[in-house]
Amino acid sequence: MQFWTLDEIERTAMLDPGMADHEVGEEIAPGVTITRRRILQVGIAGAIGLGSASLLAGCASSDRGTRDAAPKDASVDGPSAALTIDQLMADLRPRAQKMIASDSPDEASYLAAVSMLLARYQPEEPCRLREPDQGGFSINALGWMPPVVVFDIRMRPGSTIHLHDHRHYNGVLQCLEGEVRCRNFDIVTDATDPGAPALDIAGGEVPPEGQDFLIRQNADKTLARGQLSTLSRDRDNIHHVEAGPNGCKLADVFTYFRREARSYELAWDALPTTRNGDTYKVAWKA
Ligand SMILES: [Fe+2]
Repeated sequence: MQFWTLDEIERTAMLDPGMADHEVGEEIAPGVTITRRRILQVGIAGAIGLGSASLLAGCASSDRGTRDAAPKDASVDGPSAALTIDQLMADLRPRAQKMIASDSPDEASYLAAVSMLLARYQPEEPCRLREPDQGGFSINALGWMPPVVVFDIRMRPGSTIHLHDHRHYNGVLQCLEGEVRCRNFDIVTDATDPGAPALDIAGGEVPPEGQDFLIRQNADKTLARGQLSTLSRDRDNIHHVEAGPNGCKLADVFTYFRREARSYELAWDALPTTRNGDTYKVAWKA
């Protein structure tokens, strides 16, 4: 497994002294004061093992424990002011909480807001949780304020993050340095192809393991510095990420709708099913 689960983020953050980079009482943005350490802002015991409602429960408890009154957009000094990671997260978090609590989440508007804010983010050094591995990339946490996490991703030249989905979460990826090719896909369902399986993709319904199915490529873009790629739970949710010839540095904002949110890898031969076609046969990796 090449990605973090919520349990893994929380377990590792608890152990890593590098996370304790703010003083209690420090005002990280107007109206936003740290009363516990940044990455520990959720009550850890309250956040683990409580099932799908735990993200909301954790946020509610940490609101009391970590912030003084934080009016909407309190962290934003102006429409183009640069944002630190803490300011970014302080602004994102109430938006994320509101979205995942909604009966009909407006992911498109949320992702547009994340994109706008992420474009103002001033990169910082990540907390070093995971060293670059032989696969050629590293993923480290910059901040974790449930239900939002911001990752720093560094990829060696030409390295690849293989085809994977984002089950029960959405994301905004920004290229900070170098170039990165992002190819996005969706599972083919009856919504676009009558006769294909009827699936509630946003609800986490996917084809079963051990069975081939089709995905359709929606986007194939090479992002340069400052450019972004977004995906929601049911739009562009599967992607394949490949670093350019000079490698790349990325910031990735993920927002989790459920406790069990995580990624699953897919196997494919990367050949379209028809000549010049845009669909590919895939299967979940065991
Ligand atoms: Fe991804």
